[in-house]
Amino acid sequence: MKKSTSRAIWSLFSQSAYLRPVESGTVPMMPTHQYERDRCVTGIAGLDEILRGGIPYGSTVLVAGTCGSGKTTMCMEFLVNGANNGEACAHFSATEPSVKLLENVRQFDFFDMRLVDQGLINVFDMDVLFSWLGMTKSTFELSDIDAMVKSITDIVNTIGVTRLVIDSVTTLCYKIPSEQLIRDFLFKLGKALATLGCTALLVSEITSSGAKAYWSSFGVEEAILDGIIVLGDVPRMGHLLRFIQVVKMRGTSHARAKYALELTPKGVMLTPMLKWGAVDD
Ligand SMILES: Nc1ncnc2c1ncn2[C@@H]1O[C@H](COP(=O)(O)OP(=O)(O)OP(=O)(O)O)[C@@H](O)[C@H]1O
Ligand SMILES: [Mg+2]
Repeated sequence: MKKSTSRAIWSLFSQSAYLRPVESGTVPMMPTHQYERDRCVTGIAGLDEILRGGIPYGSTVLVAGTCGSGKTTMCMEFLVNGANNGEACAHFSATEPSVKLLENVRQFDFFDMRLVDQGLINVFDMDVLFSWLGMTKSTFELSDIDAMVKSITDIVNTIGVTRLVIDSVTTLCYKIPSEQLIRDFLFKLGKALATLGCTALLVSEITSSGAKAYWSSFGVEEAILDGIIVLGDVPRMGHLLRFIQVVKMRGTSHARAKYALELTPKGVMLTPMLKWGAVDD
C-alpha cells in the first residue's frame, strides 16, 4: 500500500476516540455516552430480560425449533402483545391453514379473537398469497422470490405492520432451489422489513437442537438474519423439558444461557435452567 494511502486511511480511523494514538502522560479518551437501539418489547415473560429490553427495532430474527417446541405459540404471543398496544401485526402461515391456527391459539387465555376482528392481528395463508400471485410452480426463480418479497412488504406497508411472523420460512425455502437464492430471499426480505420499521420473527423447523445441530434448516439463514432464538427439548426425569436460548441478537447484549420454557394458559413462561438441575448439552 502507498504511504499516502495508508496515511489517509489512518486519519479516517483516528477520528474515533478509541483509535486516537495516546500521547505519553495523557489519559485515553473514553466515549462520553452510550448509544442504545430502541427495542421492540416482546412482552413475553422473561424474554425481554434475556434481551436486555427487547428485540432491536426492525430486526429479522430466526426462531428455530424442533417440532412441538412452542414456536407458533410464542410467535403468536409476540403478535398479541403488540396488538394489545395498538400495533398492527401480521402472521403468514405456511404450515397450517389459518383457520386451524386460530382454533389452536384461541384456547390460550392470552389470545383474544377481537384482535383479529379489529384488524390488529392479520392472518394470511401463504398458499392463498401464492395463487393470487400466480406462483403455482413447485420451485421458485429469482423473479418469484422478488414477487414474494414485494407482496409481503406491500401488505406490511399498506396495513402499517410493525410486527410480523412467517411460520415457517423453512416451508417457503423448500421451494427455493439454491442456497444463493435462499440468501437473496432472506437478505431482500430483511432489508425491506427493516426499512419499513417492522420487527419480524421467521420460524425455522430444525430436527435436532443438540450440540451438533445447525441453527437453521438450510445452514445459510443464520448468517443473514439479525438474531437466532432456538427452542428445543431436553430429557429430564422421563419428561421432555422445553428450553429456549438466544444464540445471537445483533445490536444488543443478551444472555446465552438455556432457559426452561413452559406453555401455560397465560402464554410462554421462562425460568432459569439451573432451577431444573444441571444441563449437560
Ligand atoms: N392449551 C394448551 N396449553 C398448554 N400447552 C398446549 C396447549 N395446546 C397445545 N399445547 C402444547 O403445545 C404444543 C404445540 O405448540 P406449538 O404449536 O406452539 O409448537 P410448534 O413448535 O409450533 O409445533 P410444530 O412443530 O408442530 O409447528 C403441543 O404439542 C402441546 O404440547
Ligand atoms: Mg408451529
